[in-house]
Amino acid sequence: TLTLQLDQPGVRVSPSLYGLMTEEINHSYDGGLYAELIQNRIFKDNPKIPVHWNLIQEGEAQGSISLDHKQEINKALTVCLRVDIENCGNQIGISNDGYWGIPVKPYTTYKGSFYAKSSGSGNKTVTVGIESADGKTVYASAKVSGVSDKWQEYHFTFTTPAGIQPTADTKFVILAHEKGSYWFNLVSLFPPTYDNTPNGNRADIMKMLSAMKPAFLRFPGGNYLEGDMFSSRFEWEKTIGNIAGRPGHMSPWGYRSTDGMGLLEFLEWCEDLKMQPVLAVFAGYTLNRDHLDSGAFLKPFVDDALNEIQYVTGDVTTKWGAERAKDGHPQPFPLNYVEIGNEDGFDLSGSYAQRYLQFYDAIKAKYPHLHIISTVGGKDPLGRRVPAPSRDLNIVDEHYYRSAFQMEENASQFDSYSRNGPKVFVGEWATREGSPTTNMNAALGDAAWMTGMERNSDLVIMASYAPLFVNVNPGGMEWRSDLIGYNALTSYGSPSYYAQTMFSNNLGNKVVPITGDNIPRQLQKLSAKDSVAGVQPKRIPALFYVATRDTSSGMIYLKMVNTLGTPQKVMIDFAGKTRIIPTGEAIVLYANHPEETNSINNPDNIVPHSMIIKGISRKFTHIFPAYSITVLRIKTK
Ligand code: AHR
Repeated sequence: TLTLQLDQPGVRVSPSLYGLMTEEINHSYDGGLYAELIQNRIFKDNPKIPVHWNLIQEGEAQGSISLDHKQEINKALTVCLRVDIENCGNQIGISNDGYWGIPVKPYTTYKGSFYAKSSGSGNKTVTVGIESADGKTVYASAKVSGVSDKWQEYHFTFTTPAGIQPTADTKFVILAHEKGSYWFNLVSLFPPTYDNTPNGNRADIMKMLSAMKPAFLRFPGGNYLEGDMFSSRFEWEKTIGNIAGRPGHMSPWGYRSTDGMGLLEFLEWCEDLKMQPVLAVFAGYTLNRDHLDSGAFLKPFVDDALNEIQYVTGDVTTKWGAERAKDGHPQPFPLNYVEIGNEDGFDLSGSYAQRYLQFYDAIKAKYPHLHIISTVGGKDPLGRRVPAPSRDLNIVDEHYYRSAFQMEENASQFDSYSRNGPKVFVGEWATREGSPTTNMNAALGDAAWMTGMERNSDLVIMASYAPLFVNVNPGGMEWRSDLIGYNALTSYGSPSYYAQTMFSNNLGNKVVPITGDNIPRQLQKLSAKDSVAGVQPKRIPALFYVATRDTSSGMIYLKMVNTLGTPQKVMIDFAGKTRIIPTGEAIVLYANHPEETNSINNPDNIVPHSMIIKGISRKFTHIFPAYSITVLRIKTK
């Protein structure tokens, strides 16, 4: 039996509880959300060879391609592609294989551009287009003329015909028609983007994020904020302005980032989905465990963070606010939260306590309204013990990557946290089961964990799952078990994605206290190694639940997670005088087996089902299916 104590006040639910965390990992932006289709567009992905670019030669054609480091356009565009053509034969040119193909869809207009110049005095014409990978089918093309011996930027558009089959077995081509030498740089191609924003995002992925109703976006990392070395940290100034001025940088996840998704694009992403930014600033510590001592050495980085905050929030009379206006966004962005670093518990030198305070004091002096988040000082799941800041510890970021059983075992951990300490931001969490995206068992672990965060959301003010994205092509993933998967053509949600969508779309403003009797229990499944070692399996609850109510509409949201392989009949009892409306709704996510999942080829295997339920009263029974997550929407008066 569950008794929902409608006669008790219940704590306030944080209005920012469910949000997003993002960084460049698993081709999250390049080859993911950021809609650019050309891979290695400024030829810096490999210093020796033009990776992802090939020479096309047909018939008697003869030519070669190479990187040319001597034709600098500006400080960002320092390497270009040189194409030398001796004989045009039947066809000659260059191709780019995109991010695992260039997506071709019927009746779609693509916009592209490149910098080019050619040898000799006459103007030359080239043909751009998308072809099948074998070159036999041309899906769309356009002519670009006037390529002279001076660097110039050229723009083009082309449209695919209606009635073609979507495919990514394709390439982008630039074909030449005269012999000589050609140089290309910043070759870019975009499909239609979300809201038709230039340099924008993929519409399908934005739609999936929007359905999650996220309250905030934590960016730009994660490890991506810190970088492996100081030189590869996220340097926000190098990510703003025209993309022709962005050199890109090496990410800690093994590939170069174009920085096409730069600081302004992160902020516009927030604006598009009505999320508030949670801005993480580089705090003088990198992944190779280098750190700067606080004081004079750290000061330039503190100043840099202040400038970054000014870029986000300053009006056009400020230096960086004016820069933002120049970049196309005169209106300042709202900002309430700034996080100092990322996972600085790994900094075993213990320098964080001082570094945090130097940032804290400088930021608060200029922006007293900002809430500052510490990455040290909360419960540390990895058991590291580095000194926490000695004062002004108001919000701590805790990260949890666990198995489903561990999530379920710890679903009540926040129940016992002190209410006199700092608030908790669970800035990264996930049940890591299933690959590339998580399976139903992970969704059950996630949902059990979310019941605990939601019940304690007077304390846990914000929570964001990580990683958010994965490109499911071979080589696209660096971190297994992710929330949303995609290839060049389509995207899909894991069962965990749907669990989160159900939780964030069904949230009241007050927690309803619940007492539970006779809750069935589950037995831990031990690994072969643990069994041999004689480890005793733990027994923990098998049902997890939380309820919130919307005090203005009277709607009650009861969430129930059944981790067992059998349906569970539960008596639901309402204490108090509130009138219960007999007809409600159940939204259910379930699977026949906990390892069932969704995939790029089977995206809708596990999706929420909604049904009307009747006969709800002060005391009624409901059957929760095996391996299921249920939201009961119960109306009251
Ligand atoms: O989410 C993947 C990584 O996990 C993040 O970059 C880092 O903060 C954490 O260790």
